[in-house]
Amino acid sequence: MKILNEPKELQRLAETIRLQEKRIGFVPTMGALHDGHLSLVKIAKQRADVVMVSVFVNPLQFGKNEDFERYPRPFERDVELARLAGADILFAPSAAALYGEGFQTFVEVREISKGFEGDVRPTHFRGVATVVLKLLNLAKPHVAVFGEKDAQQLALVRRMVADLNLDVEIVGAPIVREPDGLAMSSRNVYLSAEERREATILYRALQEAKRALESGERNPDALKRLVVATISSVPIATLDYAEIVCAEDFSPTPALQSGKTYFLILAARFGKTRLLDNLRFSL
Ligand code: PAJ
Repeated sequence: MKILNEPKELQRLAETIRLQEKRIGFVPTMGALHDGHLSLVKIAKQRADVVMVSVFVNPLQFGKNEDFERYPRPFERDVELARLAGADILFAPSAAALYGEGFQTFVEVREISKGFEGDVRPTHFRGVATVVLKLLNLAKPHVAVFGEKDAQQLALVRRMVADLNLDVEIVGAPIVREPDGLAMSSRNVYLSAEERREATILYRALQEAKRALESGERNPDALKRLVVATISSVPIATLDYAEIVCAEDFSPTPALQSGKTYFLILAARFGKTRLLDNLRFSL
């Protein structure tokens, strides 16, 4: 596995690979890799000849009082895990290399950036869209894989790619979970032993909603109430939101329609740690 730090180097290598008529698969990450990230690498491998993984904790997508400084950065371990998963190229630029002096261009994806994560983190999605566009311009992938774990981010990336005519296929990958159901996340390491134990309530709440859907419940408010009630059984969990949105544009839905795909999305805090989870369903 090749490790590159310089944006220009990655871009040149991508160009060479394209001239050899090989397909490039790309998986952008912020590192602290876990099986969720590695599942994306495997999907990219199935769809491309050469797989690139980026590891970059993007300062632009963190708010002032967020966890940019303490975000885990186990770089040597990431290198090893990416190599074992079959990545061919690992791109790990410095912030200075990616955002040169005088940097002042940002990508704004208007509507999808509002609500949910966008409400709690007002400049987050601008940072995500900007770095993802830059990374796509450097890695020049034919296909890029993103997790459904961050469903709003996935919808935003799809929207940006469509709006800006980017020549890349975006693939969404299912959530990978711990054996007890907790969605894997680089931020799970922040949880205390008690918070970690109780955090499984998010998955259990989604499973309750899934069972209700399977037995015919079609009222979004009833499904949301079920999730809220289940999560409120854990006193140390504070629910930020639970909502049902259309998978495509992330708009909340007053009524469920057959033939459509939705996400039941939720975010909750356990102490200082915010966790996201969701259930994708089609009717
Ligand atoms: P990060 O949080 O490191 O996630 C990188 C990719 O892994 C994202 O597409 C995310 O949805 C996916 N992922 C995370 N946990 C997952 C899980 N349990 N199962 C499946 N996929 C999972 O998301 C980012 O980084 C950044 O915003 C980034 C896109 C790299 C831009 O900086």
